[in-house]
Amino acid sequence: DLPDAVTIYEVGPRDGLQNESTVVPTAVKADFVRRLVAAGLGTVETTSFVSPRWVPQLADAEDLLTELGDEGLGHRRPVLVPNERGLDRAMEHGVGAIAIFGSATETFAQRNLGRSLAESVQMFAPVVRRALDSDLWVRAYVSMCFGDPWEGPVPVTQVADACESLMELGAHQLSLGDTIGTGTTGHVEALLLELERRGIGADVIGVHFHDTYGQALANTLTALRAGVRVVDASTGGLGGCPYARSATGNLATEDLVWALDGLGIRTGVDLGALVETSVWMAKQLGRPAPSRVVKALSGG
Ligand code: HMG
Ligand code: MG
Repeated sequence: DLPDAVTIYEVGPRDGLQNESTVVPTAVKADFVRRLVAAGLGTVETTSFVSPRWVPQLADAEDLLTELGDEGLGHRRPVLVPNERGLDRAMEHGVGAIAIFGSATETFAQRNLGRSLAESVQMFAPVVRRALDSDLWVRAYVSMCFGDPWEGPVPVTQVADACESLMELGAHQLSLGDTIGTGTTGHVEALLLELERRGIGADVIGVHFHDTYGQALANTLTALRAGVRVVDASTGGLGGCPYARSATGNLATEDLVWALDGLGIRTGVDLGALVETSVWMAKQLGRPAPSRVVKALSGG
C-alpha cells in the first residue's frame, strides 16, 4: 500500500550539478542548497569529496561547506565519499553523513572508480568502518541496478550481490541507482523482491531513478507500493553522471512532489518555492529546467 509520507532525498546540488560543464560559482551552489532547505527538503546531498580531476565541478567541496556553515552539516546533509582521502577531507569539515557509491557491473566500476568491483569494495571498507566509528550516517549507492550502457540489462542476482557486499560493510541505507534510466516497473518489483529474499528490506532502501526513458515516476510508485519510503530526486530534473554514457537527469523533485501531492502523500515540500528555485537555477545555468512540472507551473 501507499504510505502517508515519503522522505525525499534531494540530490540536485550533487548529482544535478556534477554533470554541468560550466563551473557554477560556490556562492550560487550555497544559495541553491539554502533555497532547497527553505522549500522544505529535509535531506539535501550537498557535494562530493572525489578527485577534482575526475569531477571538476565539485572541486570546491571544502569552500561550499565553509560557506554553508552549520546549514551544511548534520545527518541530513550527506556528501559523496569514495575513499579514505575523501573521508579525511569531509571529516575535517565536520560532515555528519556520507555516501559511498559502488556499482553492480565491472565496467562501470572501472569507468567510475578506476577499479574492479572487488577492489572498489576494498576501497570502501575502511571508509565505512571509520565513518561508523565516528558516528556518521552512511548510505551506499549501487549504480547500474537495471541496465548498463556497456553491459546491457543487469541480472537482479548480480545487482543483489553488489548490494549485499556494500550493506555488509555496515551502511545504514542502500540507494538503488538506475543510472541510465532504462528500468521498468516489473524489473523494479523483481529487484526489490530479490533483495527482500536476502534480508535487505524496503525499510533500508532508497530509490534513485534517472528519467532518461520517462520511467522514473512509474518506477518510484512501484517502489512505494513495495514499501520503499525514501526517494531520490533532483530539483528541476538536473543531472547525470559524467562517467555513464547516456545518463540524463534524475527524477525531477517537482514531478515527484506533484504526483505525491495528488495522492495526499506528505513530503513537507512547498512546490511553489521549489519551482521558483528551478527557475532561478535555470537562469544561472542559461537553459530551462528539464522538468515538465516546472515548465507547466512557471508558464514557460
Ligand atoms: P584514484 O584511484 O586515486 O585514481 O581515484 P587517480 O589515479 O585517477 O587519482 C586521481 C587524482 O585524484 C590523484 O591526484 C589522487 O591523489 C586524487 P593527482 O595524482 O592527479 O594529483 N584523489 C583525490 N583528491 C581529492 N579527494 C579524493 C581523492 N582521491 C584521489 N577523495 C577515485 C579514485 C575513486 C577517487 C576517482 O576515480 C574518483 O574521484 N571517482 C569519482 C567519480 C564520480 O564522482 N562519479 C560521479 C558520482 S557517482 C554517480 O553519479 C552515480 C550515483 O548518482 C548513483 C546512480 O545514478 O547510479 C551516485
Ligand atoms: Mg545518479
